Amino acid sequence: ATERTLSIIKPDAVAKNAIGDIIARFEKAGLKVVAAKMLHLSEEKAGGFYAEHKERPFFKDLVGFMTSGPVVVQVLEGDDAISKNRELMGATNPKEAAPGTIRADFAETIDANAVHGSDSPESAEREIAYFFGNDEICPR
Ligand code: CMP
Repeated sequence: ATERTLSIIKPDAVAKNAIGDIIARFEKAGLKVVAAKMLHLSEEKAGGFYAEHKERPFFKDLVGFMTSGPVVVQVLEGDDAISKNRELMGATNPKEAAPGTIRADFAETIDANAVHGSDSPESAEREIAYFFGNDEICPR
């Protein structure tokens, strides 16, 4: 079914000038960018986004990393967009990511892992609404 998912190109990948390479992978896989913007997240905005991880030992480092430079947030739309995006990204830990995935090719560590993607329809809906108003999404 046609789905939407939230994708974030994280500060490490933006710093590597890999925005275009990463978006090209989404497009080549048949996903469409229906919303996009570049943001430098505040601690509050990053912490709220990752609220479910608040009690995890890596939370502080995660927020520190996500606020260390600009990110690009996008809404991707397409057939099975949520799982397709997760396949393109590869495992959370780049050391475990399959060859040819975004994290295998662009990421170094589990903290600086190049991209984020929603993991379920429920989180996609929440995450999209966290960054975009309806008037910022362009169905096509
Ligand atoms: P992401 O998909 O953006 O969701 C939470 C992030 O926390 C994850 O990617 C990783 O970059 C980061 N992280 C750091 N340590 C861990 C860990 N042990 N398990 C899961 N995520 C981690």
